[in-house]
Amino acid sequence: MNFLPKLLDTVADRTVVPGYSKLGFLLRRRQWQPLPADSLRGKRALVTGANSGLGKATAARLAELGATVHLVVRNVEKGEAARADLARRVPDATFHVDRCDVSCLADVREFAQRLQAEHDTVDVLVHNAGVLPPHRQETPEGNEVTLATHVLGPHLLTTLLLPALRRGGDARVVFVSSGGMYARPLHDEDPQYARGEYQGAAAYARTKRMQVVLAGSWARRLTGSPGIAVHAMHPGWAATPGVTDSLPRFARLMGPLLRDPDQGADTVVWLAAATEGGRRSGSFWHDRAPRPEHYLGRTRESEQQRERFLDYCDRTVGLTQ
Ligand SMILES: NC(=O)c1ccc[n+]([C@@H]2O[C@H](COP(=O)([O-])OP(=O)(O)OC[C@H]3O[C@@H](n4cnc5c(N)ncnc54)[C@H](OP(=O)(O)O)[C@@H]3O)[C@@H](O)[C@H]2O)c1
Repeated sequence: MNFLPKLLDTVADRTVVPGYSKLGFLLRRRQWQPLPADSLRGKRALVTGANSGLGKATAARLAELGATVHLVVRNVEKGEAARADLARRVPDATFHVDRCDVSCLADVREFAQRLQAEHDTVDVLVHNAGVLPPHRQETPEGNEVTLATHVLGPHLLTTLLLPALRRGGDARVVFVSSGGMYARPLHDEDPQYARGEYQGAAAYARTKRMQVVLAGSWARRLTGSPGIAVHAMHPGWAATPGVTDSLPRFARLMGPLLRDPDQGADTVVWLAAATEGGRRSGSFWHDRAPRPEHYLGRTRESEQQRERFLDYCDRTVGLTQ
């Protein structure tokens, strides 16, 4: 990037509203090269929460680039409705609908086994499913629901799909986090948000921070085995059912400045398909550029905290005692 566009990009990023809104996307897009039309031909992609919003837009773009796309959904009826829409947008693509509630560890185990019994290779795994509950809720397995959806389910699914991800030789795993995580440190001392007054927006942001830490930990874990790159990213602010239902006042205030779902999904698709950035494992991305993981000193975690958190995830999903 040239000096002036880079400066504008950084100013937009640090001042938040210009960078996260549609304005940032339109400003930066002028510097980007289009992805080659067939860059995912012959590849298999899994997108969780693909019946709606950014997940559905991601599924469409991955299919347009040639991938066979699995819509991993908790509600098959919604998944089939999304498949019908997607088939109209990308008529020659193959979409599968796979039922899996990613917040349920038993479901994740069953899905990973079923998928690998039918398919050898997974090239792209997008952890997109997301929730922002108004009150503290636990899954039937006893995990707080944002932790289960954003962290524990994705951690277990990544682990179980490693053989299929390795087989392709150039796989990408993408955690769809949120810029909201900048305000929160890693709460490794209370991952289940069992203490203090529970607020849905805080639980959301805490677990979005955990996704960034988890993606970094995965990238480090896989350093010795090239062929799988792991990324975290944030999409900016996009008009999706998730935003209009969970944050109606914010959606009204931002109105036309919100990105459309395709714009919000752009960096996910780029990380899945691009050769250069897509292979650079372990970074936190927004609008096709690596971004800082912290702006505030108080949110920085230590190596010991990261290790404690990863141990916690391994134990809670049943990988270690
Ligand atoms: N839109 C934004 O501006 C924005 C900003 C920052 C980050 N994000 C992130 O982007 C991702 C997508 O959000 P969105 O805005 O597109 O929201 P959305 O339209 O509400 O989509 C969320 C999707 O996740 C699915 N989901 C939730 N829990 C699930 C579970 N346990 N198992 C399987 N699927 C589940 C939902 O399925 P149902 O339809 O069945 O509920 C839905 O398809 C989220 O991770 C969110 O945190 C979005």
